[in-house]
Amino acid sequence: MDFKEELNAKVKIVDEYMEKFLPPAEKYPSVIFEAMRYSVFAGGKRLRPIMVMEACKAFGGDVEKAMPFACAIEMIHTYSLIHDDLPALDNDDYRRGRLTSHKVFGENMAILAGDALLHHAFETMAEACVKENDLKYTRAMLAIARGAGVNGMVAGQVVDVISEGKQIDKDTLDYIHKNKTAAMIIGALKAGAEIGGAGEEEIKKIERAGELIGVAFQIQDDILDVTSTLEELGKPINSDEKNHKVTYATMYGVEGASKIVEDMSNEALDILNGMGERMSFLSRLTEYLIKRKN
Ligand code: FPP
Ligand code: MG
Repeated sequence: MDFKEELNAKVKIVDEYMEKFLPPAEKYPSVIFEAMRYSVFAGGKRLRPIMVMEACKAFGGDVEKAMPFACAIEMIHTYSLIHDDLPALDNDDYRRGRLTSHKVFGENMAILAGDALLHHAFETMAEACVKENDLKYTRAMLAIARGAGVNGMVAGQVVDVISEGKQIDKDTLDYIHKNKTAAMIIGALKAGAEIGGAGEEEIKKIERAGELIGVAFQIQDDILDVTSTLEELGKPINSDEKNHKVTYATMYGVEGASKIVEDMSNEALDILNGMGERMSFLSRLTEYLIKRKN
């Protein structure tokens, strides 16, 4: 199997489990379950859940037991996208080639669908923690909570919002990238590593790799916002310009920013490759991310 086939097979597994962990669309009041499912099954790349699964597997863990956490982080990621697209935030009409949640279900239901996904993620993880009765699962939930909350993604989003239209410096931009995007990637890798039974040193290494991958991923996102097309990206391009945002692409130009992505990815690859053959899928995933077109 080549890498893309292997990746698609993993996406399929994530989708099967997402189906299992989400309440059925027919349940009352169905509009909220439909809205949750509309965004969850909108064709996301499933990177974060795959990172949970692969980190768990790399450290010799049982991937089946990581699935509630893998799906939970995708629920949190999906909530963040729904809210990010709202009129009060980025005000985007398209995401992944489809109308955004508030365009289909209205702003009120989009807010609630985000809330519902966030809470359902923690319900799913807490159920697994109770069932397994082993603190490593609680540590995995903590890693995801930290990545998502006001010590991570939410903080990054706050600085992103208050920086709009301002000429921010590199440190502020790095803060945004590290928190808004990298914190969830770190959370995914750390949660998987915890469930897999990794030691403290190994967890530190994977966290550092996660930070580099996460920041490089966000810079690539900013580059694609300038260089891609609506068709390829599934959402309008030049959204950063529209929202008067400083990005790596505006600060260093597309070429300069691309070089930074490459350097950061190579540093992450050095860390992963230094941890042996068991990291080979995560290494290939990192390489794939810098070459992605959406
Ligand atoms: C695209 O991920 C998303 C990012 C690069 C992260 C952006 C961060 C936010 C929007 C934070 C929002 C936070 C709040 C609290 C509203 P992806 O390319 O993996 O998307 P996909 O799932 O569609 O593939
Ligand atoms: Mg945004």
